[in-house]
Amino acid sequence: MPPDASKGDSSKGGLPQRVAEAADLVTVALDELLPRAEGPEARLTEAMRYAALGPGKRLRTFFALETGKMFDLPERSVLRAACALECIHAYSLIHDDLPCMDDDDVRRGRPTVHKAYDEATAVLAGDALQTAAFEILAHPDTCSDGALRAELVMKLAQAAGARGMAGGQMIDIIGVHGDLGGVARMQRLKTGALIACAFELPLVLARAKDSQRHAMLAFAHDLGLAYQIVDDLLDAEGDATSLGKAVGKDAAKGKSNFVTLLGVDASRERLALLAGQTKAHLEPFGKAAEFLRASVDFVLERRN
Ligand code: IPE
Ligand code: IPE
Ligand code: MG
Ligand code: MG
Ligand code: MG
Repeated sequence: MPPDASKGDSSKGGLPQRVAEAADLVTVALDELLPRAEGPEARLTEAMRYAALGPGKRLRTFFALETGKMFDLPERSVLRAACALECIHAYSLIHDDLPCMDDDDVRRGRPTVHKAYDEATAVLAGDALQTAAFEILAHPDTCSDGALRAELVMKLAQAAGARGMAGGQMIDIIGVHGDLGGVARMQRLKTGALIACAFELPLVLARAKDSQRHAMLAFAHDLGLAYQIVDDLLDAEGDATSLGKAVGKDAAKGKSNFVTLLGVDASRERLALLAGQTKAHLEPFGKAAEFLRASVDFVLERRN
């Protein structure tokens, strides 16, 4: 199922509108899929819903849905994959904010889960969102082909685990000292892996050719690195109100990232180079990738 290079449906609104539509779709779908806050365990399910249904940008969902459109995939399948990814992302944020990690009080403009509830509930809500992700992905409604579902589960597990997000978080906590190559690897693991997974899951569903997979994943990995550098720049010079989270924490905590090691100006220069390199990976897809190409600038220019 090769994407049609002559395709490109700019008639369906601009990029911000498509991102907003993706956000609405995934929030409604998650609301249906997540357990209701009932029974004696309601405190847990309520905290899961608080985290996963909160006002995130849902960019991973947008990336997945755009990739799905390029390959003419059924939206329902891709949306379920995006729900799984958003559950993992929400869990990663709950745990990232815990006192034993970044110790943050505000997320998405609201108290973090351990502040709104308590630490034990936050740990459990993260755990249960992680397993909810695999339950959603492994359900036959995601895709009728069991072998493809097993591959989706494997890709998400790899992206979230020791050689992905969790491994990157470990390196972030330990710290990388003065080595930009090491920082880039940490960023690719802690943020890049889940962003790449937003492309990888639809590519699995599409049974994409190796050449298409390689090009899309090269794009995704560079985009993920850019995403985290922008996050680090926003931490250094962004506005806490529009960001919906505290700023200035990375330098205060002695974190190693491009901005704390190179400074703001040099990081911006690297980001500009990286943006060109990122877009170039999409050349084989022509107009079919116009919104993904535009999303690079969207990510670079984001203020929240
Ligand atoms: C924040 O991710 C943490 C990083 C991996 C940089 P997002 O910036 O995507 O957060 P939400 O989902 O929009 O809140
Ligand atoms: C977190 O990176 C990446 C995750 C895996 C959650 P940060 O710690 O920089 O994210 P923020 O700034 O708290 O959103
Ligand atoms: Mg962190
Ligand atoms: Mg953090
Ligand atoms: Mg940050």
